[in-house]
Amino acid sequence: MRRPAVTSLIVAAIALASTAVRDAQAATLVVPPDPSALNATQLVSNACSRCHGFHGVSTSPLFPNLAGQIPGYIETELRLFRQRGRSDPHARAFMWGIARALTDEQIKGVALYFSTQPPVAGKGSSNPALADKGKLLYENGAPERDIEACTVCHGHNGEGVNTQPRIAGQHRDYFVLEMDQYRSGLRENKVMHHVTEKLTDDEIAALVEYISTK
Ligand code: HEC
Ligand code: HEC
Repeated sequence: MRRPAVTSLIVAAIALASTAVRDAQAATLVVPPDPSALNATQLVSNACSRCHGFHGVSTSPLFPNLAGQIPGYIETELRLFRQRGRSDPHARAFMWGIARALTDEQIKGVALYFSTQPPVAGKGSSNPALADKGKLLYENGAPERDIEACTVCHGHNGEGVNTQPRIAGQHRDYFVLEMDQYRSGLRENKVMHHVTEKLTDDEIAALVEYISTK
């Protein structure tokens, strides 16, 4: 398996994240989520917008966009952060502290708020051959290697299905980082570990090239 591309991306990501870690510390010092703040818009403005943007379009390519995200997925992830069940490095550094104080009502409120913001639109690919390779894998999987099609769980256009997340309109860097972390097990999830464990870096690059057009 070829790893260097993702490894250098992660090195760059960590360099970028260290500035963000300082920001995060400042953010949590200034605006601890107030458990009595029931107004989702106000809560987002005080406690989330600094990283995820007031309309769910985040301020760093390593912070996920939340605009148009499936509400049930947002709720699931916030509960996972709160109970420390999602424990990759960025989850620990950025989300554990914030999610700890959130009530179930607040989680529902912010999930509804972000899910109703307009998602980021896809852009044309500068490498159509690579995007085509990604499309093939996205829509058909690779049955001979027991890799399921992404379509089944994330929808034809990456819009999400039931409580399975929207992956269209996401930052490329965040997408690649999460795929790599599912593969290595840093972000623990049985379903996505199974999907990613046999994927190569080149295949992940093809998938992100394709989904970015959606
Ligand atoms: C200091 C920056 C920062 C702040 C403030 C912040 N987040 Fe996050 N959030 C992140 C990062 C970074 C991640 C990705 C964590 C990872 O990679 O595991 C994330 C992940 C998430 C996710 C999971 C998204 C996905 O696609 O899996 C949700 C939901 C979320 N944040 C909601 C919120 C809400 C709601 C607030 C406000 C109450 C908030 N965040 C405040 C940085 C932040
Ligand atoms: C059997 C269902 C299933 C299949 C097939 C599947 N996924 Fe997923 N995917 C999920 C679920 C469920 C999650 C949320 C897991 C969690 O909570 O960490 C997820 C999460 C993700 C995430 C992280 C989203 C975020 O915002 O953090 C990405 C990226 C992703 N999947 C990409 C893919 C790609 C690309 C494929 C095809 C190669 C694929 N998935 C196939 C069910 C699936």
